[in-house]
Amino acid sequence: MTHPNSSHDDDLAIITTRARAQMDISHIYEFLGCRTSDNWLKLAKDNLPLLLQDHANCEKKAAGTAMNLIFRYEFHRELQERLAQLVREEMLHYEQVLSLMKDRGIEWHYLPAGRYAKGLLKHKRTHEPAAMVDVLIIGSFIEARSCERFSALADAIDDEKLARYYKYLLKSESRHYEDYLNLARSITDESIDERVAFFRDVERELIDSPDDQLRFHSGVPSGELMAQSQANA
Ligand SMILES: [Fe+2]
Ligand SMILES: [Fe+2]
Repeated sequence: MTHPNSSHDDDLAIITTRARAQMDISHIYEFLGCRTSDNWLKLAKDNLPLLLQDHANCEKKAAGTAMNLIFRYEFHRELQERLAQLVREEMLHYEQVLSLMKDRGIEWHYLPAGRYAKGLLKHKRTHEPAAMVDVLIIGSFIEARSCERFSALADAIDDEKLARYYKYLLKSESRHYEDYLNLARSITDESIDERVAFFRDVERELIDSPDDQLRFHSGVPSGELMAQSQANA
């Protein structure tokens, strides 16, 4: 029996048993400056418990960041509406990832954030409305990258239930990317294309350069990190 308040479509048992058609995310590939490397995918596949813990953290952070924007930019009606929905969805994802961790016997453990979000946010301008434009563009890149990685992971991992769950997430993450980008466009009469291109380069560099940590949004695993993982296998 489903809970009276839970929508059928969001029921984790249904999500992870129902086969999903592949969603077309070509617009995401066009938006991003690069695709995820094979070595990142290989390492992620071998370290799913860590990846799930970081994924849970990301969902919670996505909700928290959006909540902060709702408080900071109260004058923007559309932002209130879009981000209220986004917060609701990210918290649902958080609950779902915690439940997937529990099913797999993965204990919650403290995992500090990687370099990715910090690496983007350090370029945020500090005066308004430029700060608002930048933070919304950054949001769109984080959501687009999540979408690209969920799709790649869904094809790469052997855990079928988790693969179906990742495919289920594509729809909301690609909408979140579009919402953030449209909100960024809505607050200025000037073109934001230059800023988008700037953050595309920054984001590509974070994804395409060597990284000593594995996280959901980490870069190409360094040789040392690959060797460490092989030694632990
Ligand atoms: Fe999410
Ligand atoms: Fe999202």
